[in-house]
Amino acid sequence: MELIATAALQPGMEVAEDAVDYKGNLLVKKGTTLDKLTIQKLLISPIKCIQIKEAEDYVPTYFEKIKVSKTFQQFESVYHANFTAYKVAIDSFILKKVPPNNNDLLQIVENIFTPFERSRTTILDMLTVLKITDSDLLYAHGLNVALICKYTGKWFSLDEEELKTLILCGFYYDIGKHKLPREIIFKPGKLTSEELTLMRTHPVHSYNLIQNLSIDINIKLAALMHHERCDGNGYPQKLPADRINRFAKIISIIDAYEAMTSYRAYRDPLCPFKVIEIFEKDGLERYDVAYYLTFLERMVEEYIGKEVMLNDGTECSIVLINKQDLSRPMVRAGNDYIDLSREKNRYIEKLI
Ligand SMILES: [Fe+2]
Repeated sequence: MELIATAALQPGMEVAEDAVDYKGNLLVKKGTTLDKLTIQKLLISPIKCIQIKEAEDYVPTYFEKIKVSKTFQQFESVYHANFTAYKVAIDSFILKKVPPNNNDLLQIVENIFTPFERSRTTILDMLTVLKITDSDLLYAHGLNVALICKYTGKWFSLDEEELKTLILCGFYYDIGKHKLPREIIFKPGKLTSEELTLMRTHPVHSYNLIQNLSIDINIKLAALMHHERCDGNGYPQKLPADRINRFAKIISIIDAYEAMTSYRAYRDPLCPFKVIEIFEKDGLERYDVAYYLTFLERMVEEYIGKEVMLNDGTECSIVLINKQDLSRPMVRAGNDYIDLSREKNRYIEKLI
C-alpha cells in the first residue's frame, strides 16, 4: 500500500486501511473503492492523506508481490540498461580477445546495486524473479553472481579490495561455459555421461581464457577451482580442502545458491527455506564449514519478520533462527509459537 495525499485521490482507488480523523471517527472503511462523492468528503475532512492499495496488494504471494512492485520495475529497468554494456564487454572478450575493463565491470555492479542498497526488497529477492530471455541466460548468470557477491561479500569479513576481487570472480569464474553448447549448459534434465564430461571442462576453459589477463591471481584460481569440493570429490583436480583457494570456496557456495534461485521459465522460484534445506542436506562436507555456516545463517536472517505459509496452510511470521536447523526457524501464528525444529511434519512451504 501507499500513502496518498487526499488531493491526489482518483475514483476507482481502493482504501487499504481504515481512514480515521484525529478524534477517531471513521471516515472511510478499509476496502472501500473510492468514488467522486467519497473523495469530496475526504477533501473537506481534517486528514491530508490515506493508505491506498497498490498492485502488489492484490497478488497472493511474496514473490508475486515483488514482481508487480514499483521497486522491482525500477530495478528491472536499471538492470537492463546496464546489461547491454556488460554483454558487449563479454562478447568482445570471448570473440575478439579484447580484455574487459575491470573498473567498467565493477561500475556496472555499482550502477545496479546502489539505488537498491537500502530498499525493503533485497537485490537477492529481485534477482529471483528477474526474467531473462533464454539467449541472455549465460550472460545474466555472470552478472547476477557478481551482484550476489557484492551483496553477500560483507558477510565473509572481506576488506574493500577483497570484495572487489570477489565481485570480479563472479564475472569471470564461469566464463568458460561460453565455449560449450548452450543446450548442454541449460539442459533441464539429467546430462548424459558424455555431456557431463564436456560440462566438467568449463573451469579449465574459464582459467585458460583469463590466465593472461592482468587480474588478481585469486580470480584465476577461483575460476579453476570453483567446482572443487572440501570432501575431495570435486573437479577438475579433486583437490583436498587445504589446497582450494578461499575465493573459490566462497564462489562455490554462491554459485550453488544462484543456480537454485535464478529465474527459469519451467519452474517457480524455490522458497528460500527449501534452498537452505537442500544446502543443509549435503553441504557440510562439501563446502568450507565457516563460509557455509556464515552464508546460510545470514541468508535466514534476511527473512526474519517475513510472513510464510506452512505445508498445513497455517500462516505465520518468522521470529527466531534455530542455529542447529536453519531451514526450520521458530515461527509465530497469532499468539502461538511453533518451533519447526521440533515439529518435523510441518515445514515452510512458501513466503506470502
Ligand atoms: Fe561452474
